[in-house]
Amino acid sequence: MAHDLFEAAEAAMRKAYAPYSKFPVGAALRTAEGRIHAGCNIENASYPEGWCAETTALGAFVMAGGGTICEIAVVAEKMPRIMPCGGCRQRLSEFVASDATLHLCDETGIVESVPFTSVFPRGFNLEQNR
Ligand code: THU
Repeated sequence: MAHDLFEAAEAAMRKAYAPYSKFPVGAALRTAEGRIHAGCNIENASYPEGWCAETTALGAFVMAGGGTICEIAVVAEKMPRIMPCGGCRQRLSEFVASDATLHLCDETGIVESVPFTSVFPRGFNLEQNR
């Protein structure tokens, strides 16, 4: 199940531009409408200017019309079960459904699926802070 999302993340990882860290990452997002958007990490000689695979995928998602994200897959060939960094969890949280699933992968496929809210409870938003 959701292997197609893993495959999209893995294909994106193969496009990573990560000459500095040599740590390619791929991410893929599935929308409620069933569309898949993927991205890789893109590094820069000015190291802090690089960004994560999840952020590239979010750019593709928004440019394709956006929507609601119901599934996320992330893969890194050098780290089974890579977790999205804190900044990307905040960025993803802007668009995820309340019951969105995060798939953690190794190089062969999904190895664990967890609710997105379990890895990003009580994130910042402009409506709930009372
Ligand atoms: N990276 C991602 O693409 N996603 C994450 O969630 C964590 C880290 C990238 C950033 C950098 O290009 C490389 O992994 C090493 O930190």
